[in-house]
Amino acid sequence: MNSDNRELEKKANSTANAAISDNTDELWQIVDEHLLHYGRDFVREFITSASGPYLHTATGRSIIDFSSGQMCATLGHNHPAILDAMQRSADSVIHLDSTMLSPSIAHLAKELCELLPPQLSKVLFLNTGAESNEAAIRLAKLYTGCFEIIGLTGSWHGTTYGAASTTYAHGRKGYGPGMPGTIAIPAPNCYRCPLGQCQTSCNLACLDFGFEYIDSVSVGSTAAMLIEPIQSAGGIIVPPEGYMEKLRALCDERSILLIFDEAQTGLGRVGTNFAFEQQAVVPDILSLSKTLGAGVPLAATITSKEIADNTREKGYSHYTSHASDPLTVEVGLAVVRTLVSEQLASRADEIGQYLMSGLQVLQDKYESIGDLRGRGLLLGVEIVTDRESKTPDKEYLAKLSQRCFELGLNVNRVGGPLAVWRIAPPLTISKSEMDLSLEIMDEAFSSTK
Ligand SMILES: Cc1ncc(COP(=O)(O)O)c(C=O)c1O
Repeated sequence: MNSDNRELEKKANSTANAAISDNTDELWQIVDEHLLHYGRDFVREFITSASGPYLHTATGRSIIDFSSGQMCATLGHNHPAILDAMQRSADSVIHLDSTMLSPSIAHLAKELCELLPPQLSKVLFLNTGAESNEAAIRLAKLYTGCFEIIGLTGSWHGTTYGAASTTYAHGRKGYGPGMPGTIAIPAPNCYRCPLGQCQTSCNLACLDFGFEYIDSVSVGSTAAMLIEPIQSAGGIIVPPEGYMEKLRALCDERSILLIFDEAQTGLGRVGTNFAFEQQAVVPDILSLSKTLGAGVPLAATITSKEIADNTREKGYSHYTSHASDPLTVEVGLAVVRTLVSEQLASRADEIGQYLMSGLQVLQDKYESIGDLRGRGLLLGVEIVTDRESKTPDKEYLAKLSQRCFELGLNVNRVGGPLAVWRIAPPLTISKSEMDLSLEIMDEAFSSTK
């Protein structure tokens, strides 16, 4: 062994033997020294455990989690069905060669497809939302032989290259050219008509404009349109009545495939199993992630037999290290079964309506609540300086969120240039926990200037 190796071995042993201090000040010093920032500042309180809708901090506080982790934990944190599934996988098999399958994947594929319209019958299991969107984009390109991907302003589809190229909410600047052929049209924001045209009713002018724009800028190679049925990071933007039907027709006229990214809206969150059920439009490709693993990294790209067969013939290849992994699939199966057995979609609808009425009471009381929107348990509260000018008040929203956190409620801020609270608690949250959350929000509004 040369001296360099001896040095490395010594260092490795001393690291392995070093007891990590429980002193949180020291832990924060380590965080500051060694963690690379990837977005907003870290919340300066360690979370030592979580259960149901609650996060428990190192200082002994319990906080209701209105963001379900990173919008994933729809069953609540550490749900027993998920823990059992993880244990089953630990007792059997965790990971395999991507061409080998554990029996649970057959159950999951069948039970997931049973929740979907018959044309969505072929599933590829992956891990993250960005990955399932990449897989969808690659399927669309191979199937159509075209390469242009259309998106909506304010969208979020992930941070890998293809997904990031069709992400317009924020985070685009400074990384050089995106994927060739990406085109965005205005999102249908009814509170702030992108054309400054519609006030009380919407005539879908933004969609007509969008497709005139596509027809004009496209180089004649449109493959697919990739959209969230309800935009989340963009500020909980719910398309108006008739939007999706018209969008589907406009895509069909041009042989453009429709990909729905239901990372957040899928698996019960919006009061139905999938958001597209409320919009009477079936996508050609469905991308699921976040809520499918409900806290473990499981995603799925789902399409028709026709697209699957066609692209198989053309040699579709989308290997990843963890495609079809038994651990995540076992959890996904538990999530789908819990969704069905606990009727979480209708629960989200019921508790969501209860929450919305509570928020309307707050809106009557506080001028800064400009708009309330959303479906089921994916709701948005838009904060403005005043209702006349509708100027987004991001500073006030940051203070409100801070105050809520101090009082025991974690609420996410989204919307890019807009100031929107995203409310998305676990679907298992109780009415009394909802009442407590509304009381906290009320107190935050009344005590924050
Ligand atoms: C709608 C949507 N799609 C895709 C993604 C990306 O998912 P992931 O972060 O798992 O890659 C997100 C993440 O926030 C999302 O909200």
